[in-house]
Amino acid sequence: MSKSFKTFLKHTAKDYHNQSVNPPVVRASTIIFKSMQDIRKTQDKAKKDPTGGHYDYGRQGTSTTYILSQILKKIEESHHVFLTPTGFGAVFLAIFSVTRPGDEIIVADPTYSPTRLLTQEFLKEFNIKTTFYDPHNLKTIEKKITKKTKLIFVENPGSNSFDFQDLSKILSIAKKNKILTAIDNTWGTPYFFKPIKLGFDMSIVSATKYYSGASGFMGLKIKSKNKNSVIKFVNSLKLFGYGYSWGGFESLALYQDKREQGNRQFLNLPKDEHLVRLHIGLEDPKDLIEDLKKSLKHIK
Ligand SMILES: Cc1ncc(COP(=O)(O)O)c(C=O)c1O
Repeated sequence: MSKSFKTFLKHTAKDYHNQSVNPPVVRASTIIFKSMQDIRKTQDKAKKDPTGGHYDYGRQGTSTTYILSQILKKIEESHHVFLTPTGFGAVFLAIFSVTRPGDEIIVADPTYSPTRLLTQEFLKEFNIKTTFYDPHNLKTIEKKITKKTKLIFVENPGSNSFDFQDLSKILSIAKKNKILTAIDNTWGTPYFFKPIKLGFDMSIVSATKYYSGASGFMGLKIKSKNKNSVIKFVNSLKLFGYGYSWGGFESLALYQDKREQGNRQFLNLPKDEHLVRLHIGLEDPKDLIEDLKKSLKHIK
């Protein structure tokens, strides 16, 4: 990519079509061909070049999804991009594309809780075993590797507790043991960090967040013997909404109770420490700081 990244993002769609500024949104199920020979030609091309945008049915993709995947491929600097309807669909696809009954996978303990449920509960029914590693002690990965280990699934930083992990170390453990690696890179996005370049086999991004790269999503660890006063701090915020997800224009806050933390093995939070998660939106920072300052006074 010779242009600056910002220029690339503004102009790249033009490389694929020459009409409207943005590629038209094409939706399709049936695709009509001029003749049987025409159908066969497209099918032969798809066989030779499976990622080349040759489709004989709309579910395989359209010109719009092809352009998007080509652009994301350049951003990720990857061999190929698979698009799924949601980020969680991508987590599912990455895991199921490489695991088979009898395999084992090792997953970051602070992983997004639906990913935890998918691996811990759902995979079990397919005779695929999940163990979790401590993001602060990577020896726990080495201890859990067996001959059956197929995949190490990383999420960085850890969900809700924002643990930053030594990704190079994780990769060297995986490569030494010939184990595949996948990372949920939704927080960093390939705008800031390119996992495939570092050596990961698969990189996952939920584009319902800021693919778009902003990192305004963070956690606070608050020390207090009075849990209700910490909840009062959260409830007193006027400019923050209370809801799941992040990456939108609106600021959000959540007190991280057991339900949000998930069934973690290695969190070990002392009774007088509380986690609060903030997503910083696009409001004026001065107003947000003022709101936080006023509400923090409730903590006892
Ligand atoms: C880290 C992470 N990965 C994946 C997802 C799932 O993305 P989606 O909501 O697009 O399915 C989320 C959603 O909150 C997330 O926080």
